[in-house]
Amino acid sequence: MSAECYPIAKVGGLADVVGALPKYQSNSDRTSEVIMPFYDNKFTQSHEFSTAYNSTLELGRESYNFKILTLDNNAVGFDIYFVKIINLLTVDYVYSYDDANRFLAFQIAALDWILTWKEKPTIIHCHDHHAGLTPFMLQESYKYESLNKIPVILTIHNAQYQGSFSHDKVGLIPAFNFENIGLLDWSGMINPLSAAIKCAWKVTTVSPSYMEELKIKANGLEDLLVAESHKCVGILNGIDSEVWNPETDHYIVKNFKKSAVASGRKGNKEWLCKEFNLDLNKPLFAFIGRLVGEKGAELLPEVFQKALQKENISVLLLGSGHEEVESQLESLKTEFEGTYNAFIGYDEKISHIIYAGADYLLMPSRIEPCGLNQMYALRYGLIPIVRKTGGLKDTIIDISEDGFGFTHKDVEIDQIVNAIERATLLYQDKTAFNKNRKRIMSIDHSWNASAQEYINLYNSLN
Ligand code: ADP
Ligand code: GLC
Repeated sequence: MSAECYPIAKVGGLADVVGALPKYQSNSDRTSEVIMPFYDNKFTQSHEFSTAYNSTLELGRESYNFKILTLDNNAVGFDIYFVKIINLLTVDYVYSYDDANRFLAFQIAALDWILTWKEKPTIIHCHDHHAGLTPFMLQESYKYESLNKIPVILTIHNAQYQGSFSHDKVGLIPAFNFENIGLLDWSGMINPLSAAIKCAWKVTTVSPSYMEELKIKANGLEDLLVAESHKCVGILNGIDSEVWNPETDHYIVKNFKKSAVASGRKGNKEWLCKEFNLDLNKPLFAFIGRLVGEKGAELLPEVFQKALQKENISVLLLGSGHEEVESQLESLKTEFEGTYNAFIGYDEKISHIIYAGADYLLMPSRIEPCGLNQMYALRYGLIPIVRKTGGLKDTIIDISEDGFGFTHKDVEIDQIVNAIERATLLYQDKTAFNKNRKRIMSIDHSWNASAQEYINLYNSLN
């Protein structure tokens, strides 16, 4: 159960995970199906759907007609169902101010439908707070009593976002024993993420290090995670190595194998340099991502300024987020014309070409539960420069420790610039640089191993 799934609706890595994991899980004895909201977007406008179920749900005093839709041709590689509620979920955005009502209605519709299944699911797997009231409703709501033996798992992709809303809305949740209202509460609010941590049978995070970090700092939920640690485990995300394959990727301008990494990447770098007016001969440092505090984004303008003044490099950024950061990044363009450029926005094609054509990827994250960018980078031979945190700590080893990337300890401008300087030195040694690119392309982060860890977890519950 998820709010996002690639290629249908993607805001960040949650979509990539939910769009890949079922493919790898369905190779085993189990089949895995996804249920998500039906949004009004490019994907839904350009595909055909059929109705599998039609009913009405109660959200407090309001009633909504809803449909469960299926996708007509198996365009995503696994079975996927959509909850369609006109005027509530069928909107052109994924997240907004009215998430509490929307995602609650999504979950109620999904559970109402599951109530009608002859053969019930063996596991319900909820992703993030958008599906976080499901473990509570399964355990506590009278109407779902017949489902309360189904093991339910929560995966936390990002504990910063908890979906809290006021107790005034408690009447929207299907009736339950009020003595247990404490399960919904955290710091005086209804907190779907905390309710899920309390009620799920198992809780996973998307990397082992992030699980440990959450016990110390989890936007207010650290004590809860310590108290529930007996049922918590960190499982590192994988990547969809079919979608992210430099040999077949249809977004990039030149496909390449590991043996031809230098010429393949050069073809993509040429496109980037032409498109963004950058010098092909300088090492190209890139950033792709949401421009938010978690990603260390507000430091980027100063980092770029310092690094561009000190070193003979180019910089390219792709991202959007905080307006002030966006405008600072825009205004650097005139100061560093020819060595710096930024595309403020979201663009899947440009992102793939950056993975295939830049020389280094910067990820100075404050918080990075897993991070997929660095794993895509490795697969394409793009060398990551990361802050040692969460999933970045679990996947990238510094070159000075017999590793292949560049790491820095803190989210500090000088440390990031220092890592850029070290990376520039490697770029000058073409043999070592190319050898390192080949080395990182051999690292396997496909879902195979991690999907099995999830299956083992499911098996421990059935
Ligand atoms: P998060 O989910 O926290 O944003 P992840 O590293 O897990 O971070 O996943 C980010 C995903 O979103 C990657 O697939 C990355 O390539 C993609 N992405 C982020 N920003 C952009 C952008 N502006 N344009 C295209 N893709 C983007
Ligand atoms: C979240 C995290 C990111 C992770 C992604 C997929 O968006 O911020 O680190 O890779 O989920 O699990």
